Amino acid sequence: MFNKYTIGNFEVQNRCVRSATATGTCDIVTGILEQKFYDIYESLARGNVGLIIQEHAFVSLKGHADHKQLGIHQDSMIQYHQLANSKMRAANNNIKICSQLAHAGPNCSNENKIEINNASVSDFQIVVQEFKDAAIRAKIANYDCVQIHAGHTYLLSQSISTYYNNRTDEYKASEFKLLKDVLEAIRTVGIPVGVKLQCDDFIEGYSMNAKSACKIIESLQFDFVEVSGGGYTGGAKFGTIRQGKDKYYYQHVIQELKQLNLLNKQPVIVTGGFQNIEDANLAFQDGVPLVGFARKFLRNDQFLIDGDTKKCAKCNQCINGLLKNSEAVCIVSAKQSKLI
Ligand SMILES: Cc1cc2nc3c(=O)[nH]c(=O)nc-3n(C[C@H](O)[C@H](O)[C@H](O)COP(=O)(O)O)c2cc1C
Repeated sequence: MFNKYTIGNFEVQNRCVRSATATGTCDIVTGILEQKFYDIYESLARGNVGLIIQEHAFVSLKGHADHKQLGIHQDSMIQYHQLANSKMRAANNNIKICSQLAHAGPNCSNENKIEINNASVSDFQIVVQEFKDAAIRAKIANYDCVQIHAGHTYLLSQSISTYYNNRTDEYKASEFKLLKDVLEAIRTVGIPVGVKLQCDDFIEGYSMNAKSACKIIESLQFDFVEVSGGGYTGGAKFGTIRQGKDKYYYQHVIQELKQLNLLNKQPVIVTGGFQNIEDANLAFQDGVPLVGFARKFLRNDQFLIDGDTKKCAKCNQCINGLLKNSEAVCIVSAKQSKLI
């Protein structure tokens, strides 16, 4: 865990990644960061995590998922991102920070949503430009890298899945053209670019599975890839944010990558179910370079430096709070600190 690792043109101080976790601490309409946002990220930075992937930031109003989501959709947002990053770097000069760029597509909260099957070519060209503009803002705001969100049934996730994408034109799922165009557009910006990739729909009979994900990883050259799932289609037992004891739940994708010799083609982050360094060692033993944690950091954002005795119950109350437009809080920690 505590070895350095190179991603793109920068080095992380250890192999622990804070996977993107929406905190519910931005203005519900404007996406502007509230004071709590700065506090949460300063504290995370003090916890010595190698790479902090912030939280899904909408690249345009048509891609706004709500839940008090962070915005990076216009130039006036740059100043707030800059401030957050400078506070984090002041707290810990060694950390690396990633902006996660997202377009919610059909999960957008306003009426003008983009549906993968009804969108026109010019709709897609606008989306590509929006991702590029957001990446330019991220570069100006002093992020070390950006991550394209292509998981969890957002627009890019649906674009690569035959369950959602029934198109027969050049944007059909097997061509992954939209994702490719977004990657190429961001490449011109000159900032390292990774992807959070939907590696399985967990739906019998559809083509988005570990094998098709490997095809994408084989064909496209990202600076890093984070393995994730296709949202909530599989319920609490499958998919992205699983309840229960299951740890290291994308191991089947890692095995597939390993067989195809793809694990180190671009650095892979595997996220999902990990509680502590001991769990992460299972993935390191499989040759995975980087391990991501999300809910664990809500439970204890200092677990890398304080001996880690606090377990995440994987009860998912944190995400339930977020879906009700409040902050993502760990109920267990809040009860113990007598905050509720
Ligand atoms: C409260 C909450 C918010 C999340 N927000 C995001 C997000 O903004 N972007 C994203 O890609 N994944 C998000 N996720 C998913 C996590 O990044 C991660 O993939 C998932 O929780 C599994 O990891 P874990 O078992 O370590 O929690 C969120 C998860 C939770 C619990």
